Formats: sequence, C-alpha cells, structure tokens
Amino acid sequence: MPLLCVNVDHVATIRQARLGIEPDPIVAAAMCEQAGATGIIMHLREDRRHIQDRDINLIAQTIQTKFNFEMAATEEMQAFALKITPATVCLVPEKRAELTTEGGLNCVGHEEKLKKYLAPIHESGIRSSLFIDADPAQIKAAHKIGAEYVEIHTGHFADAKKRPEQKNELKKIIDGIKRSQDLGLKVNLGHGLNYTNILDFADVPGICEYSIGHSIMARAIFLGIDRAVKDMVEIIRTFVN
Ligand code: PXP
Repeated sequence: MPLLCVNVDHVATIRQARLGIEPDPIVAAAMCEQAGATGIIMHLREDRRHIQDRDINLIAQTIQTKFNFEMAATEEMQAFALKITPATVCLVPEKRAELTTEGGLNCVGHEEKLKKYLAPIHESGIRSSLFIDADPAQIKAAHKIGAEYVEIHTGHFADAKKRPEQKNELKKIIDGIKRSQDLGLKVNLGHGLNYTNILDFADVPGICEYSIGHSIMARAIFLGIDRAVKDMVEIIRTFVN
C-alpha cells in the first residue's frame, strides 16, 4: 500500500498570519501521525513564509514516522539537511513570487551540479527525491543525477478544469511513472491531490507515497485533523494500489 505523507506547511501559514505561536505545525504533525500518516513533510522556504527554522529543528527531534524535508538546492538548505538528517530530502524549485510550488525542478542541463549537491546528503544516509514534471527529459536527468526517488508533479492534472485536459495530464503522469520505474527510480506523487482526484491513480501500480497537504488541512478545518487524515488513509487503503 502506498504511504501517506502529510504536508503541514499550511498550519504554519495560519500561525504566520499573526506571527504568533498557534496553531503549531509540530502539534499538527504529531496528530497526523496518530491518525495514520506514515510521514510528515515540511518545506522551509528561503523567505520563511510558513515553516520556520524552529519547526525543522523540532520536527527532527519529535518525528515518530519519517520526515521528508522539502527544500531548494541552496547551500543554506544543504547545511540544514546535514545538521538535522531527515529521512528524505526533496529538492524543489523556489520562486519568491509564487503562491505555491508551481512546477517541477529543472534537472536537464544541471545533472552534474545536482549530483555534486546531493553527494554529501547521500553520504549522510539521507535519501533524495527530485520534484519533477512528468517529462521524459526530466526523468532521464533525475536518473543521471542518482536520486533514489522522483516526486512527480500532479499539479497540472489537479488544476485541469475539463475532463479531456485532465485525462491528457493524467496520461502524461502515468507514462512518467512507468518511465521512471523502468529506470529504477522510486515514484512519489504530489501537489493538488485530494479526496476525489487521488482515485484516478487507483489502478497505477508501484506508487510509493502520496504527498498531500492542502486538501487534508482544508478538511481538517471543518472535521479536525484526526478525521481528515483518517479519511485519506482509508481511501488509499481501500481503493488505491
Ligand atoms: N509536493 C511538493 C513538492 C509541494 O511543494 C507541495 C506543496 O507544498 C506538495 C507536494 C503538497 O501539495 P498540496 O498542498 O497541494 O497537497
């Protein structure tokens, strides 16, 4: 069964709206774990718009499942990763003006640079993942870089308004999953996944993890974190390969 890793950045977004101490993403992470999440994700952005250094330092000490540290490929973040040694580092592109991560990392033409960047991370026993679009060239580059995982960006599929467009995006992702697996890459999926569109992946074999934040936290506002996480775990357990 694929794993459910919950992104708790959205809890920190609410806290940062008042620059206060609540709600605390560390508490949210513990509640997600209690409800059945098999991993926790935090993205420490360069502009510190939601997750703060304190959150990363604390989650590294309190995590019961596994911590997936999302970060840009900068020297500052590399030092952070080496200090806290998360289970996995996921490299994502970062633009200051974006609302959320808008597309995959561009690996093509940066293979040697990214391989070098990841070398000390791999030496510390941290697994690596590259957040990429389901583009054959990006998948090939990710393989060359030597990452263990790719997280295929599902945002364009999730944003598609009409079924033909959605189906077209879905096909690209499913082809990308197969292409990655054929190269020996492990595959995670993330961005814009929710309680209904995740079912489109029900028959796709070999997906390791779903990385989901927004839809779980949106449901949690009305029903609580425990129920929101349990509902998603139940869907994955019941319907998804
Ligand atoms: N994966 C990556 C790389 C992301 O940047 C995000 C958003 O923070 C997610 C997954 C989760 O996306 P969503 O919040 O839309 O579920």
